[in-house]
Amino acid sequence: MDFKFMLAPMERITTPEFRTLCHKYGADLTFTENSRVANLAKGKRGEVEAIQIPDDTPTQIQLSGARLDDYEKFLAKFKPENGFAGFNLNLGCSAPSYMRQGIGAAMIKRVSRTAEIVHMVQKAGYACSVKMRLGENKFEKKTGTYLNLINNVDADFFAVHARTAAQTLDDKADFHVYSACKDTGKKIVANGDIRTKEQIVDLKKSGLYGVMIGRAAKVNPRVFEFKAELG
Ligand SMILES: Cc1cc2nc3c(=O)[nH]c(=O)nc-3n(C[C@H](O)[C@H](O)[C@H](O)COP(=O)(O)O)c2cc1C
Repeated sequence: MDFKFMLAPMERITTPEFRTLCHKYGADLTFTENSRVANLAKGKRGEVEAIQIPDDTPTQIQLSGARLDDYEKFLAKFKPENGFAGFNLNLGCSAPSYMRQGIGAAMIKRVSRTAEIVHMVQKAGYACSVKMRLGENKFEKKTGTYLNLINNVDADFFAVHARTAAQTLDDKADFHVYSACKDTGKKIVANGDIRTKEQIVDLKKSGLYGVMIGRAAKVNPRVFEFKAELG
């Protein structure tokens, strides 16, 4: 199986131009920055512009939100264009406003709602992946809330950002969790602190579906050239 290289969604950074550049260097898949499906359902201009895919760069559109009627409304008028490659659900955003509304990383424990959304998107004929953290906090990580979600949702793949929502990007990502994620039998993409060829070689050997790279690509988009070097 081809080991996938993905550019992580990053607000104000992963513009169409940057996505195309990273794809040129080897990224198999890129993502639009987070958009609120409630705003898209209402046709809010800024949000609709943010999900445009102007060229053939393979791109998934990242959505956040929990209301089924918003997804239904948005999908009814959505028209795929150019490199569109499906949707990605944001179960990683840890902003307090998201957590309070039960969306972003607070959805990791809302397994049946997440499963319903994934199913609805797939039924409309589109791929649907999930990007998630390890739960809200240490307790949820320990009790395996994230594994429960992976086991019970039929997403096309799961990009696992190996931190809890309570952690910041300065805390170290915990690569040990990937083994249990992989044991679910689902397609798992590692995310968090991936920078070096050695890390990528190890993650590939451990049977993951791919890697998703954010900040290291911002500093050096040529990080995706490792794809060709790995063969
Ligand atoms: C400036 C910035 C903006 C981000 N915006 C988003 C976003 O819109 N959606 C999302 O799921 N994650 C977002 N993230 C998180 C990244 O996708 C990624 O999970 C995180 O940076 C860890 O990966 P890294 O260590 O390779 O950067 C953002 C991160 C940064 C640094």
